[in-house]
Order: sequence, then C-alpha cells, then structure tokens
Amino acid sequence: MADTDSGSWPLVAIMVAEDTSQAARARANELADRLGVPIATTPPEGSVLALSCDDEGLSLIGGGLELRADLADMLPRLAPANLRRELLVRAARIKGAASEGQPLHAVDATAGLGSDSLLLAASGFEVCMFESNPVIAALLEDALRRASFHPNLTDIVRRMHLVVGDSVEALPHVSPTPDVVYLDPMFPERKKSAAVKKKFQLLHRLERPCANQEELLRAALAAHPRKVVVKRPVKGPGLAGVKPSHVIAGKAVRYDCIVPPRS
Ligand SMILES: C[S@@+](CC[C@H](N)C(=O)[O-])C[C@H]1O[C@@H](n2cnc3c(N)ncnc32)[C@H](O)[C@@H]1O
Repeated sequence: MADTDSGSWPLVAIMVAEDTSQAARARANELADRLGVPIATTPPEGSVLALSCDDEGLSLIGGGLELRADLADMLPRLAPANLRRELLVRAARIKGAASEGQPLHAVDATAGLGSDSLLLAASGFEVCMFESNPVIAALLEDALRRASFHPNLTDIVRRMHLVVGDSVEALPHVSPTPDVVYLDPMFPERKKSAAVKKKFQLLHRLERPCANQEELLRAALAAHPRKVVVKRPVKGPGLAGVKPSHVIAGKAVRYDCIVPPRS
C-alpha cells in the first residue's frame, strides 16, 4: 500500500504478541469480533492502523508511532489547587450548585480519549461520555478499565460512563437532564508539527474535522442543559457561528459558554 500523509487510515488488525496473557487475549478476541478485523501477530506496514493488545492495555499503532490513552498522565492536573484553575472546570461551574445538594450531571458529547471528561468527573460531575468512533471508544474503554484500578482514580472514573455512539442522535433523549453539555469537536485545522504531539497525529488518522457544527449544537441545546460549553481555538469562530453568553479564554484555547434562557 502506498504511503500517504493525508486522509484517514484503515484499521487492519488487532495485534497480540505470542506471550500475551489469557485475559488480554480474551479482550483482543472480543475486540476483533466487535470491530470486524482479524487478530495478527506482526505489526502492519504502510499507511494503516492496528490496535495492539497486551498486558499493559490497548494502544493504537501505525506509521512507526504508538498511542496509549493513559488517564494517570492527568493526575498532576487533578490536584485540588490545579483543578480549580482548569479553564474547563471554571467554564462548567454552575453557580450555587453546592447548596442544591444534588450531584451535577454533564454530557461530554465528543469524548475522544476522555481527558476532558476526567477533569469534569474530578470536579464532581457524573459524566456521560459519547464517542462515535469505535476505535477511539475502544482506547477510551481500556483507559477507563486501567484507571479503575488506580488508587487515585478509582472514585473519579466511577463517575464516568461511556456510551459508544453518536451524541447528535442521543442528546435530545438523554436522561437525567444534564446540567452541562460539553462539546469539543475537532478543530478545523489542527497543526501537526510539534514533535511532542506526534503520537496524537495517529489519532487524527481516525478523526475528521467536525462537519455538522449546527446539528451538534442543536442537539446539545435539545438536551435542555443549564449550560453548553464549547472548546474552541482561541481565535477561532464560535461553533456554528453562535455568539456565546460568556467566554473563559486561555493562551491556546477558549471555552465558549452558551447559557440558554430558562423556561
Ligand atoms: C477533539 S476530540 C475530543 C477530545 C476530548 N475532549 C479529550 O479530552 O480527549 C473529538 C472526538 O469527538 C468524537 N465525535 C465527534 N462527533 C461526535 C458525535 N456526534 N458523537 C460522538 N462522538 C463524536 C470524535 O470521534 C473524536 O474522538
């Protein structure tokens, strides 16, 4: 297959090394069935992707790169003093919620590898996460499984609930009514130059820039949340051209908060 630097790459196999444990092998077989790809023992060549399943968990491999979703990487950001300063946490905050005494519910309609959901869950939200790409969802599911055994993450990931599917279809029917709907559709042009972000280029082989901004925002509002929070490039236009009620901005990204009128 010709090597190409553009377009999405197909997932061709689940790789399982010879010395993999029975438990990881069973997970690999289940995943191969679910995703409709064969089990292989050698890495694929060229512009294709594979999921490698071993005793450390699941990773995405291709083009000489490897990506494993590891929620424990986020631990420094979850320390209370740091978490309070997180822009997403500030954007999602519901004033006066503490006095209501009820758990707050968030829907992360574009869950990806779950980092943002983790911030929301760590700040106290019950988070329902939708991920429509089955390969990304498999990586996230595995990250959640591993995090559930981590002493500092167990309680947090208990509040994170993954649904594999399209949030545009699900949001109008989601229950309970969420306090916050969070949207982080892929930015139109994400640069792929920085070496440190190289492994994320692999993820971008699976994703396409969001082509249905209006639909996504309409679906978020149809869930009747108190607030919709949208991650945007700091100088980018509002999602679907909508002007937010207020903005929490950082150096590279901003969070547009859309507060619908209360009925
Ligand atoms: C930019 S990534 C989100 C990253 C995420 N915020 C994180 O912290 O890892 C966007 C993700 O949303 C998913 N996505 C896009 N549209 C979706 C939809 N309608 N329903 C569910 N997932 C969707 C894509 O497959 C992709 O994984």
